[in-house]
Amino acid sequence: MGAERRTGSNSGVTDRLFTKERKPTTPALAVSQPSGMVLARARAARSHRVPVLPVALALVVAALLVTGLAVAYGHERTPPAVSAVTATPTVQVPPAPQRPALRDLMPSGVRIGSAADGRWLSLDPEYAELLGSEFGAVTAENAMKWGNLEPSPDVYAWTGADQLLTFAEQHDQAVYGHTLLGQNDVPKWVDPAWPAARLRTVLRDHVTTVVSRYRGRVWAWDVVNEALDEDGSLRDTLWLRKLGPGYVADVFRWAHAADPGARLFINDYGVEGRTRKADGLLAMVRDLRRAGVPVDGVGFQSHLQWDDRPRDLVGNLRRFAQLGVSVAITELDVRVELPETPAKLDRQAALYRQVLKACLAVTECVSFTVWGFTDARSWIPGYHEGYGAACLFDAALVPKPAYAALIDELRRLPPRSGGVSSPG
Ligand code: G3I
Repeated sequence: MGAERRTGSNSGVTDRLFTKERKPTTPALAVSQPSGMVLARARAARSHRVPVLPVALALVVAALLVTGLAVAYGHERTPPAVSAVTATPTVQVPPAPQRPALRDLMPSGVRIGSAADGRWLSLDPEYAELLGSEFGAVTAENAMKWGNLEPSPDVYAWTGADQLLTFAEQHDQAVYGHTLLGQNDVPKWVDPAWPAARLRTVLRDHVTTVVSRYRGRVWAWDVVNEALDEDGSLRDTLWLRKLGPGYVADVFRWAHAADPGARLFINDYGVEGRTRKADGLLAMVRDLRRAGVPVDGVGFQSHLQWDDRPRDLVGNLRRFAQLGVSVAITELDVRVELPETPAKLDRQAALYRQVLKACLAVTECVSFTVWGFTDARSWIPGYHEGYGAACLFDAALVPKPAYAALIDELRRLPPRSGGVSSPG
């Protein structure tokens, strides 16, 4: 079978032609007996023989005609190769069952959020889609920092921040404003040599202008970011030197005056476990609240490393909550020493799960935010040489074990009652 078939349809066509002829004249094929009879028989066969050439030609033409028609007709029906892949199947394939997203599984009163860089919302639709579908809150990674919002005195660049707020409102996400006064984000035009009064004015005007603009649209603000040194004392900054330790309380009061409805947080890193810095922060928050300063919450950044072993996360969060404030995980990522391995990613997943469990174990923990959700847009490689892969999704937006761990942990929770109102 094969041989004939393999010789393909075309050759089959021709053979088929020759085979037929040869069959009636199989004798002719017995070339071994030359005689007069043979000749006579050959002449007789020739006179009855079908005029091969014209017939063959006709058949070839006919065959060509048929193929031509087939090809022309065939092309019309099957769309070009590319679209063939994406051609709409005649049978509608139902979409993959919508797996619940992180935001769907969070218990009421707690939002899961991500830092986001507004520039990618328009440039990268997949990034925007995942941000909108997975997270119930967003934090501006850089767009709302002083240097970016007020690039020169009293000149404001609102676009990036406005874009992020609009996106968040379109996706029913709470907005976490970051940050009114960050130790790293003071604009270059602020001159340390200025007198205290002038420094105080530019700081107060910035805080008032920004918070008033977003009044009622920003759920919470990081009012002061990274004010503490590793020993838990106030970091040596321009503001401490020129305005004294009271600058922290002043910024909180200005923010509160501009939007009494916004939750006001003090945010820092290296305070996730029971560290000296955490002790220092606890004491400062206690003193501020005793002084009536409107500190509503404490943010624990949680920039962790895959082999970290934070001590007593739950106990630490609880002792802050006992001061009467909300607590929040504000900038979680778990950087991995490259190259990443399945073992390191499993350890990373365990840490993400541990931090989520700690937040869920403390009623006053009102939001759990990751500092970016894809390895494609993470600050880690630029700041921690040899480290990366810190996020829930890889650079191709494929969920990693850490994402699966969070989903698994949330699925273990008793079904939540009621919708998610804005965090406490
Ligand atoms: O936008 C400019 C771009 O125009 C320029 O070409 C490029 C090259 O220099 O720089 C870009 O700005 C960078 C910006 O991120 C936006 O990508 C800055 O250089 C870079 O310093 C800045 O890094 C940010 C860093 O804070 C400093 O502000 C990181 O993205 C951001 O993830 C990081 O976030 C901080 C939190 O605010 C506070 N807690 C720690 C956390 C990680 O460091």
